[in-house]
Amino acid sequence: TQRPIMVQGPMPIEAEKFADRLENVKEEKSGSFVFYIGTLDNYPVIVAKTGKGMENTAAATAVAIERYNPIAIINQGTSGGHDADLNVFDIVLGERTTNLGSLKTADKDENQGIDPTVWKPMDLMASEGSAGEDPNAEKIRYYEGDKELLAAANAVIDTYTEGKIVQGTIGSADVWNNEVDRIKWFHEKYGTSVEEMEGAAAAQIAEAYDIAFLGIRILSNNKVNGGKYNPETAAANQGYVYEVVKEYIGTL
Ligand code: 5AD
Repeated sequence: TQRPIMVQGPMPIEAEKFADRLENVKEEKSGSFVFYIGTLDNYPVIVAKTGKGMENTAAATAVAIERYNPIAIINQGTSGGHDADLNVFDIVLGERTTNLGSLKTADKDENQGIDPTVWKPMDLMASEGSAGEDPNAEKIRYYEGDKELLAAANAVIDTYTEGKIVQGTIGSADVWNNEVDRIKWFHEKYGTSVEEMEGAAAAQIAEAYDIAFLGIRILSNNKVNGGKYNPETAAANQGYVYEVVKEYIGTL
């Protein structure tokens, strides 16, 4: 049997538009996660409404892998810009995805304060030893976007007319950053194009099971250049991702 393609979206507005476009849909639930199991061009595609955040996403990804054995996972939805050249409705293809919440603070005693600008990235996957003690863990872990999924996404760029599409770095954490200097710090240190709250969690679990992964994120807001939040971006992204999935199916 054919292994399904899985498309993940955190919020109802980020998943249901795609689910509506599937054929022969049946709905299954596990915990708070909803799976819309259907077909696209007669190929099995599952839309997962994961809920927001890293924990929901990691759990929904593991459950889905065990239940449905997907051939590929696309994590998609809205995001906030870290790059002044990117505007609301522009889309970032996650050449890399990274966890922005995985940090080691400075070593300070009582009354020495708090200084986030000297915090170091921490790679929890660097070794099986203590990440707090291991100097090799003081680095950024990037999850690479799958080459075939990226190729499919690039092949249908022209179908999207509401903004531009670029390759870049997606940063994830259960944090909404509104401090421009902090956003700039991530942009410079990690090379982030956008931030959101799910991609790195899905990428980490996909890698654990050796499943092709790509994050595709539309900007719904950009604090860096004053781009105001627009929820309509969620539907626009699903329209584009639909074309990506169609293209990818053609290559299987
Ligand atoms: N920062 C963090 N998450 C954001 N999201 C959209 N914009 C941002 C932003 N600027 C997404 C997250 C989460 C929800 C709050 O919207 O991925 O699902």
